Amino acid sequence: MTPIIKVNNLMFSYPNGVVALRNINLEINKGEIVAIIGHNGSGKTTLVKTFNGLLKPTSGEVLINGVSTKNENTAKLSKIVGYVFQNPDDQIFNNSVYNEVAFGPGNLNLKKEEINKRVLNALEIVGLEKDKKMHTLDLSLNKKKLVTIASIIAMNPEVIILDEPSSGQDHEGTVKIEALIKELQKNHTVIIISHDMNLVSKVASRVIVMWDSNLIFDGDKRTAFMNSDLLKKTDVSPPIITQLAQKIKGFRKDILTADEFIDEIIKLKK
Ligand SMILES: Nc1ncnc2c1ncn2[C@@H]1O[C@H](COP(=O)(O)OP(=O)(O)OP(=O)(O)O)[C@@H](O)[C@H]1O
Ligand SMILES: [Mg+2]
Repeated sequence: MTPIIKVNNLMFSYPNGVVALRNINLEINKGEIVAIIGHNGSGKTTLVKTFNGLLKPTSGEVLINGVSTKNENTAKLSKIVGYVFQNPDDQIFNNSVYNEVAFGPGNLNLKKEEINKRVLNALEIVGLEKDKKMHTLDLSLNKKKLVTIASIIAMNPEVIILDEPSSGQDHEGTVKIEALIKELQKNHTVIIISHDMNLVSKVASRVIVMWDSNLIFDGDKRTAFMNSDLLKKTDVSPPIITQLAQKIKGFRKDILTADEFIDEIIKLKK
């Protein structure tokens, strides 16, 4: 089966000479739930921007369903790979919430009723159906982020990339984002970039670690969270529940969920 995303020997440098990606190789298949983690400036956002052609490789290649991004424009690639920007203000440019979410589907040659259906459905999924007439400038950061996610849902791409979905969210917002990601995973391949390891441990199965423009780990999240040298290098702390378990004598050191934690307590009591 052809992977949805295949990256071969990718290198990318910005016009000012900053080399943001060095010799990256990876494959992402349909239905995978991947988290990209790493310290600030390690190249996470640059990497995913190459997945929908917003940035083109300086050398090497990115193939989407087997086709090089060099030969496709971003509008066409965005139908397959939808990217939700890290900063909503870089994405939002329409006045009303409705128009912002309708903009993408409006460019897909769809009938008016189909566009309306997609917009209302996307707003319902993110919980903004009551805000459709709001001016985008009047929205809180939390809601702006949700509008940008709805805009991508309305395009119905195979892959949805969320760049720091829970940044700027309070606890309630983060819980909502977690539920939303789980919902999206039912019908899409989802890639999240996050500094929030509690979120990563709950929604992802595979973790890719970036460090100083290089991909230094690609594998199972449990293996990543057990590798203290890797985490120290990338300035990342494992989920709180893992940290706690690692401090308790006799506990498994690779616990990731509350259920696993409770199982350990029961086992120790026996
Ligand atoms: N438009 C740009 N022009 C020049 N350099 C850039 C540009 N955007 C990013 N960079 C540089 O490229 C490198 C990678 O940046 P990138 O935004 O991909 O990192 P990141 O891992 O997403 O960081 P963060 O966690 O802060 O979002 C950094 O050194 C950054 O300063
Ligand atoms: Mg970034």
